[in-house]
Amino acid sequence: MDVQPKSMHGIWSGRWTFILAATGSAVGLGNLWKFPYVAGTFGGGAFVLIYLVCILLIGVPVMMAEVLLGRAARKSPINAMDHAVVASESRSAWRYIGWVGIFSALLILSFYAVIAGWAMDYLILTVKGALFEVSGDEAVLLFSNLVSDPLRLILWQSTFLALCFFVVAAGVQKGLGRAITILMPILFILLIVMMLLAVLKGDFFSAWKFLFAFDFASITWRAVLEAMGLAFFTLSIGMGAIMAYGAYMPAEASIGRTVLVVAILDSAVAIIAGLMIFSIVFATPGIEPSAGPGLMFISLPVAFGNMAGGQILGILFFFLVVIAAWSSAISLLEPAVAWLIEEKTISRQRACVILSSLVWTLGIGTVLSFNIAKDIKVAGLTFFDALDFLTANIMLPLSGFAIAIFVGFIMRDDLVRVQMSDLKIKYLAYWLWLLRYLAPIAVLIIFAMGIYDKFSSV
Ligand code: PHE
Repeated sequence: MDVQPKSMHGIWSGRWTFILAATGSAVGLGNLWKFPYVAGTFGGGAFVLIYLVCILLIGVPVMMAEVLLGRAARKSPINAMDHAVVASESRSAWRYIGWVGIFSALLILSFYAVIAGWAMDYLILTVKGALFEVSGDEAVLLFSNLVSDPLRLILWQSTFLALCFFVVAAGVQKGLGRAITILMPILFILLIVMMLLAVLKGDFFSAWKFLFAFDFASITWRAVLEAMGLAFFTLSIGMGAIMAYGAYMPAEASIGRTVLVVAILDSAVAIIAGLMIFSIVFATPGIEPSAGPGLMFISLPVAFGNMAGGQILGILFFFLVVIAAWSSAISLLEPAVAWLIEEKTISRQRACVILSSLVWTLGIGTVLSFNIAKDIKVAGLTFFDALDFLTANIMLPLSGFAIAIFVGFIMRDDLVRVQMSDLKIKYLAYWLWLLRYLAPIAVLIIFAMGIYDKFSSV
């Protein structure tokens, strides 16, 4: 039957490998770097609540739809959408969901590798003891020395992309599957150790208050748009990564339950990372929670450099960030690699070479936007800011919107139901309601108001 075709790329060895892989994709710089600083910039509490609501009511239903699309076809996002469009006899414009997904994944990977490179550089700095007793001004200098040096940035960006290359080139089971089963346990252990150390050594109480005291006065539409964009980004939805991973999901695994586990793990990691980072930040006088993107690379190093045992804490922390970024980045490369293999019948290794070179070249734009080209701005945004805004706040929500409408209204009903056959009728109805009405309407309102808010205040 055509209902459940076979994957030419392989299948995860079990439901838990899919959960680990999807969690590996979800937990990354979005949780450890972006969530804490964005929550800090928007004042904590209320932002966190809106973020969690976005994950649960918009993110989870859309993520289920995306996994479903992948598993129904067992192909890369572009061909998975083709499959669904043909099988549902719908208009071919829906196919663009797959193209937009793969395109945004490559755009994201191009800047993701640069930021992950910062974390690698900081790991080495911490090992060398460069953060010892560092003052606020010295930390700013360390950071600006790094970002103003294009060659140093390119060296790390290339190293990081090489790491991704080796994993993806080795295939679904031997590469991605194996890497994930090694990396994820390390990540969880590091996170727990870091959390305990932060509770013991940091100001946990202030961190808790900051993240959970709801002050709705600080919330603007811009903040809500940011929360929604971050929810999409952190769950890795809207860019083909989860669709590609869904294509390798065993047929008997429950999409609903699996996605819920991934979303809970992902949110838990963001909250734990937030508590950990703010415990450390609040324990160090003179550091602001609203430091922006520099929170991890300027404020935290000051804290690490000035606490007893801070060097170990710092090493563990930056190692954690690199691992989390690595397990996410491979899921950004895989969709396009799978597509090239399917279309051009070339080997996986060659597909990886072509795509990593492309991403590397694009990444040079991000590298230069911190130094040589930092004054070149469009609408007040540098190349990196513009890429980040365009992908997280525009492409992801719009492609999430399209996925919701397609699976909710357009895709052939029996194709949807066969993938969701384990859901009780009641839950299936809830999911369809969220997917058809709540998620798309919320995305549109937040999107329109957020963009209006952003550009009316520039
Ligand atoms: N979810 C990842 C993070 O939070 C980023 C990512 C986005 C990874 C999209 C894969 C696909 O860092």
